[in-house]
Amino acid sequence: MKGIILAGGRATRLRPLTKITSKQLLPVYNKPMIYYPIETLVRSGIKDILIIIAPDYAGQFLNLLGSGKDFGAKFSYEIQDEPRGLADAFIVGKNFIGRDNVTMILGDNIFDYDFSADIANFKGGGHVFAKEVPDPQRYGVIEFDEHNNVLSIVEKPEQPKSNFAMVGIYILDNRASDFAKNVRPSDRGEIEIPDVINQYLDRKELKVSTIHGIWEDAGTFDSLLRVNNYWAEKAKQQLNVDIAK
Ligand code: TTP
Repeated sequence: MKGIILAGGRATRLRPLTKITSKQLLPVYNKPMIYYPIETLVRSGIKDILIIIAPDYAGQFLNLLGSGKDFGAKFSYEIQDEPRGLADAFIVGKNFIGRDNVTMILGDNIFDYDFSADIANFKGGGHVFAKEVPDPQRYGVIEFDEHNNVLSIVEKPEQPKSNFAMVGIYILDNRASDFAKNVRPSDRGEIEIPDVINQYLDRKELKVSTIHGIWEDAGTFDSLLRVNNYWAEKAKQQLNVDIAK
């Protein structure tokens, strides 16, 4: 199993914070945002990780993260010349993925959840994760029945068929790269992840699990503030536990 972190993009919603740096390098409490997806992958046992970055801030990522040895991992880097959409991760990452399976995580998605078992048990096809949210129309919305059979996945629907968002981590086999090449850009000019995932669904090779821990897409001022507060609070609680020992 290999890992990809998609850490390019325009980050327009966080301007002017992102006028001179990348969203994924902004602080989330006591470390840069990208540390969180890195730690999510490394904690799940993934050590071979491709980090996809935009050209503008590539040097900053290299200075910060280097070879990956500080994380006990090996990092490779690819430049995404244009932010063509999330599904582009599988095209940019095609050579890196090769014949392996891949877990792709978005660089601004922050989880307090352990994916180790899901990653260890992955055999093939696609495995995605859902979380109930109050504002599903902001996300890729995933509809599934009581046996966790996926019925539909629709990107930012006006009339969501469920309250579950598909969160920004995807465990896929290496067909993801070919499936991504079949995808046509959406009205907003991006190749969208649901169009890749739906190709696994069409073949009845898609699994969904719900997650219970915290998940936040840190791409807006309010969500960025929430994750900062969450991790600050968690660090304080941990300190109290350590002191009590
Ligand atoms: P988004 O939050 O959808 O896009 P963005 O980061 O460009 O922000 P905004 O909508 O405010 O302009 O991206 C989700 C994650 O994926 C984020 O970590 C950036 C990354 N990304 C890429 O690396 N390449 C891309 O082509 C896109 C669209 C996003």
